[in-house]
Amino acid sequence: MKPRVLIARRAPAAVVERLSAHFDVDCHAGEAPLAPDELRARLAGKAGAYITGTERITAELLDACPGLRAVCTMTVGYNHIDLAACTARGVLVTHTPDVLTETTADFGFALLMATARRMSEGERLLRDGGWKSWAWDFLAGADVYNTTLGILGMGRIGQAIARRGRFGFGMQLVYHNRSRLAADIEAELGARHVAKDELLRQADHLVLVLPYSAESHHCIAAAELALMKPTATLVNIARGGIVDEDALAAALRERRIAAAGLDVFEGEPRVNPALLSLPNVVLTPHIASATLPTRLAMAGLAADNLVAALTGATPPTPLNPEVLSA
Ligand code: DGY
Repeated sequence: MKPRVLIARRAPAAVVERLSAHFDVDCHAGEAPLAPDELRARLAGKAGAYITGTERITAELLDACPGLRAVCTMTVGYNHIDLAACTARGVLVTHTPDVLTETTADFGFALLMATARRMSEGERLLRDGGWKSWAWDFLAGADVYNTTLGILGMGRIGQAIARRGRFGFGMQLVYHNRSRLAADIEAELGARHVAKDELLRQADHLVLVLPYSAESHHCIAAAELALMKPTATLVNIARGGIVDEDALAAALRERRIAAAGLDVFEGEPRVNPALLSLPNVVLTPHIASATLPTRLAMAGLAADNLVAALTGATPPTPLNPEVLSA
């Protein structure tokens, strides 16, 4: 008998076909994510779960599904999965790093540019018939070329954004990360590791690319925003919970920072109404990795992981490989 797996969100046909060749597949084909109790019911008796960032894998869920052996998420971030609880129960977890790095960095930089150069504000004004004539300060924004790019979280995506800033836009780079980059990478990027407060003070454009955890929850709040330049822009492509959105809305409203570009939100897809009403914030619906080739690569890698995990092979990108050797 084939192992039973759940594909918890609509997936590319090639993925469903590939998984069906190995497993007895239960596919949730609806557009809305399964509610937690539906997810629990559909996962009962399954050996594998193919999920996205909208499915929360908790200790309670794992206890209700003791047959589960692998959770494969089609995301690089994994804050929706209780990794420690999975490891404690011998459940292998995999994610999809690398295949989305350059696409996500492209988007991070595009959001920085759109924010600094007031693109959304300009388009809204034009569509609303508000473009009357030229004026010297009409929609004047902030320079990007030869300014200081700050990066909080210098993993793969942070480094890819740094390369764009350094080699494409002649930017000076400052960053803060738990661990410092190797000296040769720092030298290649011309990147200086600084304390978080210093990063906030120095950056003309600050991009958040750090993982979300209890430690990084609201790590950009009123006190941090108060350290930033009044001309600075803030871009978040990591997770919404990293930023205290009420504090950010107040800083934007009072022009204590110039502008923000946000692709992620605490409680998404709900967006804090205080942000929706502000002109100096560019809002996008969590699409930093959303190009067709990249999403297909992510979906394919998650499928490779699930097949390997349940057929005794080594999955390409495990998060808790210790489960494999246990
Ligand atoms: C990721 O891969 O973590 C993205 O945020 C999901 O779209």
